[in-house]
Amino acid sequence: MAAIVLILNGPNLNRLGTREPDIYGTSTFADLVALCAAEAMALDMVADVRQSNDEAELIGWLHEAADSKTPVIINPAAFTHYSYALRDACALVEAPLIEVHLSNPAAREEFRQTSVISGVADGVIAGFGIDSYRLALQAVSRLTTA
Ligand code: DQA
Repeated sequence: MAAIVLILNGPNLNRLGTREPDIYGTSTFADLVALCAAEAMALDMVADVRQSNDEAELIGWLHEAADSKTPVIINPAAFTHYSYALRDACALVEAPLIEVHLSNPAAREEFRQTSVISGVADGVIAGFGIDSYRLALQAVSRLTTA
C-alpha cells in the first residue's frame, strides 16, 4: 500500500495565485495540490495536502502525524518566523519532516531570515516556487526508502 505523506500549509497559502504573484508565482493552491498528488503518485506515495490559517489546527495535524508516524512536508508560512508552538509540535514528529517555502526567505526581509522550524526539520527546500514541494516529496521518498 502506498505510504501517506502529510503536506501542511500555513496562513495565506490558500490565496496562492493572486497573493503577491511576483513573489509566490501565479500557480493556485489547487495547482499545488495537483502537483503534489501527481509527484506523490510517481513516487508510489499518497499526498494528503491541507491548509489552515489557524495555528491550533496545524498543531493538531502535527500531533496526528506524530501519533501515526507519518512523514510531513510543511510550509509554515509566516509561522516559520515566530511560532515556538508550531516548532514544538514539529519536534514531536519522528518520521521525516521537511520544511518548504515557495520563495527564498533568506533573500528577503530580515524578519524572514529566521526560521524557528528549521532546527527541528530534517531539511529545508526553499526558493523554487511550487517545485519546492516536488523536491520535498523526492526527499521524503529517499529518506523513507533508504
Ligand atoms: C513562505 C515565506 C514566508 O516568509 C511567508 O510568510 C509565507 C510564505 C514561502 O512559501 O515562501 O507566507 O513560507
